[in-house]
Amino acid sequence: MKRRSLLFFLITSDISPAFPAFGKTKSKNPYDERRLLEQNKRIQRENNAPEEFPSFIREGFTVKVVTPDNYEKRDSGLILRDFYVGEGDFPKDGQQVTFHYIGYNESGRRIDSTYIQGSPAKIRMGTKALVPGFEEGIRDMRPGGKRRIIIPPELGPPVGPSTFFSSKQFEVFDVELLDVQDCKRRTIGFYSDVVCN
Ligand SMILES: *[C@@H]1O[C@H](CO)[C@@H](O)[C@H](O)[C@H]1NC(C)=O
Repeated sequence: MKRRSLLFFLITSDISPAFPAFGKTKSKNPYDERRLLEQNKRIQRENNAPEEFPSFIREGFTVKVVTPDNYEKRDSGLILRDFYVGEGDFPKDGQQVTFHYIGYNESGRRIDSTYIQGSPAKIRMGTKALVPGFEEGIRDMRPGGKRRIIIPPELGPPVGPSTFFSSKQFEVFDVELLDVQDCKRRTIGFYSDVVCN
C-alpha cells in the first residue's frame, strides 16, 4: 500500500496552507481533560505508540497537544524533540537529503515507514516536495540526527474544503537523517538531469 502521499506532495498552486485558528477554547472541566488524556494514552498503548508519544486532546474543533517537557514548540506551530543531534552541516536548498522516517497518526498508529518499505526517502531541499512542516523540521537537522517532528494541520498537506474540518489532523514523524549530498545539473545532448553525490 502506497502511503507516501501523506508526506510527499507537489504544490500545484500558490494557495497558502493557512487555516483559521482553532475554535475558541472554552474552559474545560479538568476532570474531563484528565479522562480524555487517559483515554488517549490507552488507545496509544493499544497501537504500540513509541515512548513519550504526544497526546492530542480534542474537544470539538479545538485540540490540545500534551507532550513531555523535553519537546520544543516553535512559533510556526511545529513541535519537535531531538533524540540525537547529528554532526555536520544543516542541509541547504538544492541539496539532497536521504532519510528514514516512521509516520504516526494522532492515535499513535504507525501509518507509514521507510524502514518497512526497505529503502530510505531521498528528496531535494527547497523543491516543495515535502509538506511544509516536514521540510522545516529537517532543515536544521544534522546528518546522523534523530528527531521527532509533530506537524500541525496548518503545516501539513493541503486539504480540500469538503474535508476541511475532519482532516485537520496532526501527524507525527520520527526522522533519521542519513545523508546530505550536493547536486548539480548535468546536460548530455538534449537530455538534462540532476545528479547528487
Ligand atoms: C489512526 O489510524 C488507525 C488505523 O488506520 C485508525 O483506526 C484511527 O482512527 C486513526 N486515528 C486518527 C486520530 O485518525
